[in-house]
Amino acid sequence: MDRIYGARKRVIYGRLPQTVVEIGPGAGANLRYYAPGTRVIAIEPNRAMHPRLRAVARRRGIVLDIRAVGGEQADLPDGSAAAVVGTLVLCTVTDPRRVVAQIHRMLAPGGRYIFLEHVAALQGSSLRGFQEHLFKAWRWCFDGCHLNRETQRVILTAGFARVDMDCFVMQSRWLPFAPHIFGVAEK
Ligand SMILES: C[S@@+](CC[C@H](N)C(=O)[O-])C[C@H]1O[C@@H](n2cnc3c(N)ncnc32)[C@H](O)[C@@H]1O
Repeated sequence: MDRIYGARKRVIYGRLPQTVVEIGPGAGANLRYYAPGTRVIAIEPNRAMHPRLRAVARRRGIVLDIRAVGGEQADLPDGSAAAVVGTLVLCTVTDPRRVVAQIHRMLAPGGRYIFLEHVAALQGSSLRGFQEHLFKAWRWCFDGCHLNRETQRVILTAGFARVDMDCFVMQSRWLPFAPHIFGVAEK
């Protein structure tokens, strides 16, 4: 993960505040990029991830506060977060629009949503055809992951004051989730 995404994460994670909300941190792939002492409010519904997440947090000096709910049900107060991070998670959540609406709600004015997601390939491309063909089997095998979500539209239409979004295509012969978006949305 670090080899594929690390350089981009280091750029967009710059100047994170002391407390960060992370949606779907899984086993803690992002914790290595946070400064030791950072408090991470981890919205992670899958309890099977929690022991690994706790172990990584301990190793990295991260103060962890796990909430075992989905992003759709996140109950932090309105405007209480300076930064929310979500990576490779909107492909998996049940309702990406609702999760992004929750992120927007929880952010303080000027707060930042930092995202990195794989997305559907362009309509009409052969990769998109492949993604559409494969998505049900893929979703079944990979814990609900959708190959064909146009997540960029969800973020761009969520009401942020400003969205800086870049994209890249992962070079892989085998993985059908090559197109990615990453960036920062500011409330
Ligand atoms: C592919 S993993 C990504 C983990 C990590 N963010 C990373 O970049 O490696 C997707 C994560 O989203 C979590 N997840 C699934 N549904 C969710 C939801 N509704 N709200 C928040 N997280 C969710 C899963 O439990 C899993 O930990």
